[in-house]
Amino acid sequence: MLRDPALNKGRAFTAEERTALGLRGLLPPRVISLDEQAARVIATVRAKKNDLDRYNSLIGLQDRNETLFYHVLIKHLAELMPVIYTPTIGQACQEYGHIFRRSRGMYISDADRGHAREILGNWPTDDVRVIVVTDGERVLGLGDLGAHGMGIPVGKLSLYVACAGVKPSQCLPITLDVGTNNEVLLSDPAYLGLPHERLRGEEYDSFIDEFIHAANERFPNVLIQLEDFGNANAFRLLEKYRNQVCLFNDDIQGTAAVTLAGLYSALRITGSGSDHASLCDQTIMLFGAGEAATGISNLIVLAMTKEGMPEAEARKRCWLMDSKGLVVRSRTDLAEHKKPYAHEHERLPDLFSAVQSLTPTVLIGASGQCGAFTHAVLSQMAGEQKHPIIFALSNPTSQSECTAEEAYRYTEGQAIFASGSPFPDVRYGGRTISPGQANNAYVFPGIGMGVISSGATRVTQEMFFQAARVLAAEVAPDDLKIGRVFPPLERVRELSASIATAVARVAFSTGLATVEEPQDIRAWIESQMYIPDYSSYV
Ligand code: NAI
Repeated sequence: MLRDPALNKGRAFTAEERTALGLRGLLPPRVISLDEQAARVIATVRAKKNDLDRYNSLIGLQDRNETLFYHVLIKHLAELMPVIYTPTIGQACQEYGHIFRRSRGMYISDADRGHAREILGNWPTDDVRVIVVTDGERVLGLGDLGAHGMGIPVGKLSLYVACAGVKPSQCLPITLDVGTNNEVLLSDPAYLGLPHERLRGEEYDSFIDEFIHAANERFPNVLIQLEDFGNANAFRLLEKYRNQVCLFNDDIQGTAAVTLAGLYSALRITGSGSDHASLCDQTIMLFGAGEAATGISNLIVLAMTKEGMPEAEARKRCWLMDSKGLVVRSRTDLAEHKKPYAHEHERLPDLFSAVQSLTPTVLIGASGQCGAFTHAVLSQMAGEQKHPIIFALSNPTSQSECTAEEAYRYTEGQAIFASGSPFPDVRYGGRTISPGQANNAYVFPGIGMGVISSGATRVTQEMFFQAARVLAAEVAPDDLKIGRVFPPLERVRELSASIATAVARVAFSTGLATVEEPQDIRAWIESQMYIPDYSSYV
């Protein structure tokens, strides 16, 4: 019991339990409570000299005592989320081979081809409800980290538990080790994966296919979240499997929901006193044309059609820019996912000329290009709009298209700003402005909870749209007053319960649910949410 993190209570084993379980003498004699333990943990974590040390300290705790880990995480969620997730997780993945202590989750490599079902059989519990899986090809904005991408599914699943109350035992992080093209990792003796180049083509597809089927056979109706796949595979896999199994891609769909929620909130600020409050009135410039940007565009188009705009017209409201310039009809080098947004326009090579020519009301960065929102770009936006909406979503902080401070300074405090990684408050013009964090953790845990509670057999776009609506509705006038387009992260459990309720409602109303609809969906969701507390063993 002392060695199993799911059962261990450490010094909180009571005198009765120690006697009954044969633990007397194996622990220091003074018993302390969960709260006392938690106070010690947070003090120790805070005393560490940097965030990576804090990360290691928390992962060590997760490996020793899961209840205490989640108790601390939930109690200090806003403080610790940047440690167990972005931005620190980026550094953790980069150094995964060196900080690795104890294996968590499962690795399935090319050497396991033909045995995926058998390997998944080695997982010790049957009731897995959520799998987060990566192949490590596009980790945050950091590129190909191969098997070291494992930090991402581990971190995301911790957030499923902390934010939405999915039970830890129902979560399984998986890394598909299909190789890496990262030369540094290939020559690093500390690299945890098999040192070979990435599988491509049929070899890759058949490996993924075997995994998806094996996972569904081993854990029927499990929710699979695809995470940090390179975009050449991410879009294809989502299209291939979204109607076959219960699966979604958070980089594409979760990002879209959280961004749409931020946009709805921002429009409450820009709309006050003007007639430009509707989403359909916006011109949206997306810098980056990958998973995040295309996913966001697709959901915005759905949202606009719900406001009555024809789909073709809604698409024309969204402009994308990739590393080769503005996405326009005359280009012959466009990947499939960009084509719906290739409009008639002259070719423009850079963001400044695109912003000048198209006068967008909203500028969203999802390019991984640090500093791309220059002084010139931001002041151009401010010259055309009273309150330009600027979302610099790239993660981690080092990749952000601009900082919060730059966004406010170069728009003379007028920007409505949100970012992917957190930025501190900014003092500008005598007031304090709080940048919002477009954190996917607002959305995916609640989506997952709604899906698994209702036993939904598919994850639909409507679920993401409803999640965005619910999240936006939870932004209070006081949040907007200080410039924040998302609710405080401290409220995330309550927000997740609201999102899960909305998602379950979609599942029930569209016939995707496989459990009986309860009378009070919200109360029923809340009753299933995991609360980290010690149960008595005697
Ligand atoms: P991706 O690899 O699918 O797309 C990146 C896009 O950026 C590509 O279209 C590429 O052509 C474009 N790009 C690269 N260099 C460029 C340049 N110099 N100029 C213009 N475009 C350029 O990656 P994905 O998944 O779309 O992620 C992009 C960024 O967004 C990452 O940093 C990621 O961390 C971040 N992100 C943030 C989220 C959030 O804030 N909630 C959620 C998901 C992703």
